[in-house]
Amino acid sequence: MIKGFIFDLDGVITDTAELHYKAWKNLADEMGWDFDYEINDKLRGISRMDSIKVILDHNQASLNEETLAELATKKNDIYVASLDEMTSEDYLPGAKELLTHLRTEGFNVALGSASKNAIKVLQQLNANMYFDVIGDGNSVSKSKPEPDIFLYGSEKMKLQPDECIVFEDAESGIDAAKAGGFYSVGIGPKERVGHADLRFDSMAEATLFEIKSHFKELFS
Ligand code: BG6
Ligand code: MG
Repeated sequence: MIKGFIFDLDGVITDTAELHYKAWKNLADEMGWDFDYEINDKLRGISRMDSIKVILDHNQASLNEETLAELATKKNDIYVASLDEMTSEDYLPGAKELLTHLRTEGFNVALGSASKNAIKVLQQLNANMYFDVIGDGNSVSKSKPEPDIFLYGSEKMKLQPDECIVFEDAESGIDAAKAGGFYSVGIGPKERVGHADLRFDSMAEATLFEIKSHFKELFS
């Protein structure tokens, strides 16, 4: 039976992909690196340091770890400053409604984000009250596609993975949910999250009614 839900943050609850894009693009332009939306999409769900390595590989460049860390910090400073503009109006359509519905029905809810800035994003959105557990980029060391962040959430909720549904917009996030034995809902195109148990183009379609209809036998 489903007793809990674990939500990714970026791309599921709010659309930070554009802000991440602008911050990486700013750094890439300064470094003379090629960077576009296609590569940005590959960074969904993966950690900051893994992201800079993907960008570097794409540019067939190499730098030592120390320089990489400095550049990743530079990108992060730009990204964090851009979060100041985010408000409680910036939920993706449907996200707030679903979170509210889960609260009224008494489900356990955890955040399972790779971001080290998740606390700030939740504050900007005024979303803390929707979560019993907050798992972010500081909670575990192995990032998606490893299942650790979702296992952290289910353990804190005292639930088994097969009692939880994970919501994800990233290919690596669905991989992580599957690796951990969770049910998964993918938000986005087939090419990215088509391997999820259930997929919606956007959060606006992901109502509790639709979810219960699909996973009928898992709800009492
Ligand atoms: C994920 C995003 O949620 O967090 C990734 O989808 C991002 O694009 C990752 O790289 C890490 O975020 P941060 O805020 O710690 O740099
Ligand atoms: Mg995401």
